[in-house]
Amino acid sequence: MAPFFEVENLTKSFGGLVAVKDVSFRVDRDEIVGLIGPNGAGKTTLVRCILGILKPDSGKVRFKDKDITRRRSWDIVQSGIVGTFQVVKPFRRLPIIANVMVGCLSPRVSKRGEWVKRVEVKARDALEFVGIADLALEPASVLSHGDLKRLEVARAIATDPELLILDEPFGGLNPAETELVAKSIKRLHKGGRFGRLHSEGPAMLIIEHKLSELMKIVDRLIVLNFGEVIAQGTPEEIARNKQVIEAYTGKEMLVA
Ligand SMILES: Nc1ncnc2c1ncn2[C@@H]1O[C@H](COP(=O)(O)OP(=O)(O)OP(=O)(O)O)[C@@H](O)[C@H]1O
Ligand SMILES: [Mg+2]
Repeated sequence: MAPFFEVENLTKSFGGLVAVKDVSFRVDRDEIVGLIGPNGAGKTTLVRCILGILKPDSGKVRFKDKDITRRRSWDIVQSGIVGTFQVVKPFRRLPIIANVMVGCLSPRVSKRGEWVKRVEVKARDALEFVGIADLALEPASVLSHGDLKRLEVARAIATDPELLILDEPFGGLNPAETELVAKSIKRLHKGGRFGRLHSEGPAMLIIEHKLSELMKIVDRLIVLNFGEVIAQGTPEEIARNKQVIEAYTGKEMLVA
């Protein structure tokens, strides 16, 4: 059987700098996979190539038997892959619920005839899921950085993704907020409320620097360094991998 999601020999350069070099990996339907590596390793660039925001120089991205390389970003969302971003950019003057409804208006949802009557309910559901439904009618500008991260997750899950890609979901969050977001990620993955389109929650690819928190929720990790995959394995395997420890020398490398 073809893999659920697969990146094959993907390369992306900026001028003379090879930011992502010949990267290959897979994510299975039932997995949460972490993507880690020191600053500048190429994680965001790789994800931007997957999401159709950047065009890779070479290589392939396959999702459920289809080649989705170089498709446009809206088309990628339509296929079932949705990402949240390292730098959060909401429509600050629009009510919080409207920020989520933008996600619900994706043809992926509207095609199912839901949007006319259900779009607001769906957006509210997503806000409830991340715990900020009480602020639904406030403008997004009132939200703290931590709550903006939650809004990003709400907007993404409102599209019913089958693969959810999160770029630093714990970035800038305090330990209590981090724990909340980590818990909702796990809950989402298990399905339930947002498993209506599919029996299970989405597969996930999560970029994160907070390794100890990440290791608690992932099944497997992929490690990038200078654009290349230097290791793949379980949190335990990665925590004792010499090449990985060297890549992180002088930085935090926490054992699971
Ligand atoms: N648009 C761009 N133009 C030129 N160089 C870029 C661009 N985007 C990223 N780079 C460079 O590509 C390399 C990889 O950057 P990228 O943002 O993908 O790293 P990252 O692993 O996400 O880092 P961080 O952990 O700090 O977010 C870096 O050297 C960066 O300076
Ligand atoms: Mg990044």
